[in-house]
Amino acid sequence: MNIKKSILTLGAAGLTLTALAAATAKLPPAATKTGVTYATDIKPIFEASCVKCHGAEKPKAKLRMDSLEAVLKGSKEGKIVKPGNSAESLLVKSVAHTTEDDEQWMPPLGNKAGIKKLTPEQIGLIRAWIDQGAK
Ligand code: HEC
Repeated sequence: MNIKKSILTLGAAGLTLTALAAATAKLPPAATKTGVTYATDIKPIFEASCVKCHGAEKPKAKLRMDSLEAVLKGSKEGKIVKPGNSAESLLVKSVAHTTEDDEQWMPPLGNKAGIKKLTPEQIGLIRAWIDQGAK
């Protein structure tokens, strides 16, 4: 066993874990509410902050957020929700501003519609919804 190589590998794994932990730590915690559903809890948030650009008419990134089916289907790039894993869902990273690319921060910074960043409580509710299976 090459000791130098092992130390390097361990070091790299450690850095990766640290980076992952840091990104997850930046996410607001999931809400403790149980039985969270799209229809009752999530749709109103998306309607107020997302559907202007992700609705029926020319949806940005071909992503519609005006129905549960559409959100689960995702964008032209693919899925944005991993049911059961909110921390790894692009939807959550984009509203929490933890993606590397700030073009994915949603709603876009300085958007003309004047739509503001979601509150930590709203992000926590979205996390709870996804962690509970995105029903
Ligand atoms: C003012 C318009 C606007 C609003 C409001 C908006 N978006 Fe977006 N959204 C965009 C644009 C434009 C893109 C494409 C960005 C790009 O690809 O560079 C995008 C892309 C995305 C993507 C990335 C899709 C992919 O696969 O790359 C996600 C996820 C997303 N939006 C979620 C949301 C959520 C959630 C909200 C509400 C909290 C929201 N957006 C509100 C304009 C908007």
